[in-house]
Amino acid sequence: MTNSDTQNENLAQIGVVGLAVMGSNLARNFASRGHTVAVYNRSTDKTDKLISDFGETGNFIPSKTVEEFVASLERPRKAIIMVQAGTATDAVINQLADAMDEGDIIIDGGNALFTDTIRREAEMAERGRHFVGAGISGGEEGALNGPSIMPGGPKESWDTLGPLLESIAANVGGTPCVTHIGPDGAGHFVKMVHNGIEYADMQVIGEAYQLLRFGAGLEPAEIAEIFAEWNRGDLESYLIEITAEVLRQVDEETGKPLVDVILDAAGQKGTGRWTVKEALDLGIPTTGIGEAVFARALSSSLGQRKAAQGNLPTGTLKTFADLGLNRDEFIDEVRRALYASKLVAYAQGFDEIKAGSEEHNWGVDPRDLATIWRGGCIIRAKFLNRIVEAYDNNAELPSLLLDPYFNGELGDLIDPWRNVVVYATQLGLPAPVFTSSLAYYDSLCAERLPAAIIQSQRDFFGAHTYQRIDKEGTFHTVWSGDRKEIQV
Ligand code: 6PG
Repeated sequence: MTNSDTQNENLAQIGVVGLAVMGSNLARNFASRGHTVAVYNRSTDKTDKLISDFGETGNFIPSKTVEEFVASLERPRKAIIMVQAGTATDAVINQLADAMDEGDIIIDGGNALFTDTIRREAEMAERGRHFVGAGISGGEEGALNGPSIMPGGPKESWDTLGPLLESIAANVGGTPCVTHIGPDGAGHFVKMVHNGIEYADMQVIGEAYQLLRFGAGLEPAEIAEIFAEWNRGDLESYLIEITAEVLRQVDEETGKPLVDVILDAAGQKGTGRWTVKEALDLGIPTTGIGEAVFARALSSSLGQRKAAQGNLPTGTLKTFADLGLNRDEFIDEVRRALYASKLVAYAQGFDEIKAGSEEHNWGVDPRDLATIWRGGCIIRAKFLNRIVEAYDNNAELPSLLLDPYFNGELGDLIDPWRNVVVYATQLGLPAPVFTSSLAYYDSLCAERLPAAIIQSQRDFFGAHTYQRIDKEGTFHTVWSGDRKEIQV
């Protein structure tokens, strides 16, 4: 590195590759903080558009080739890739690495699978390049005005990158929503779980809507006001806020509530599914996230749904009037069921992060995560302040649910939560995350689980052995003939 390189005002402090909305917004965010930003896109139309629309608002250096782009960066060069996750990422990384030198840093800001990130970092390390997988959350608006950023990769590269990322991240009370999460794939792993929690959070809001709409018979505009009210309390969050806004919208063409004309088939790009697959491998019951992923899949099984509608017995359903409930009390019970189920989903997500971190030796600090998720990201919520406090009080919490504050909250939530699950069942309104989260909670609290039956069955048909509650050792029962237990 030469002094003239670092001081050269014609060089950029950061580069962005991939100028679709997320990439160009991120580039504009860097530029708005006074950085010179090198920009490159495979097809030049996106680069031209960024420069023609926003060239006046910041210092951009556009390039037509990767080589030109790399040459326009200060050393050590720092380039963020914002391309669709998949094979395109490898091609771009290799092109950049070819044009770069020892110690330069490539940052993947997309939603990459963390195992790909681990592989890529190892490949880049062999070539003397730093590779940082960084989760970036906040959607288009966050990328422009301040996302939550979860960088993994070598600590060394964080020392260089940290100030740059801090300058563009969201900020809550003077604390930037970015920190070094841990080595190699740690950043993309926690972003994956963030998205899994996002799935559960979105689904529980959907379940609350469904109960208010088709249980209590409220109109979308009325539910919008209820959500806006909830957003002034413990449930204050970006997702509740935008749902209230969604529910206020009327379709111009039909005059119907917009939510009624949107096809009820939820899409998914994969991060929720990855969270669940990984949880299965780690043996962590992320049931809330799992149900949320399956709920999206079921919603999209349109053929099967159509075939079933009106063609399968529903049993005896009740109407809201049959339940004999006070409407306002019902609304408040639904709020509490949502809060409790959300709490379970976060507790499970943090369990998965802890297990992933232990498995890969990442040393992820859950307190740091809760801190950087308070602003910028899709799951930002007031509630995260409580999670920060929970880990402040006890860094080794066995489950978030056991934090004294949340434990106290659960005392007020549990009965309404049980009631809502019963009402949903009686009304025939599916509430998979409310329901399965309660089953998880009861399982966690149960003194005895039916697992003893499973252990006996396994031992019966396959001599898989079992432990006893009253003595050490491993046992097998000879189930046929004269039954007898032997220690093995
Ligand atoms: C974020 C979002 C972002 C994206 C998801 C949506 O944190 O900013 O999670 O990453 O919107 O990929 O995922 P689905 O298309 O799977 O809902």
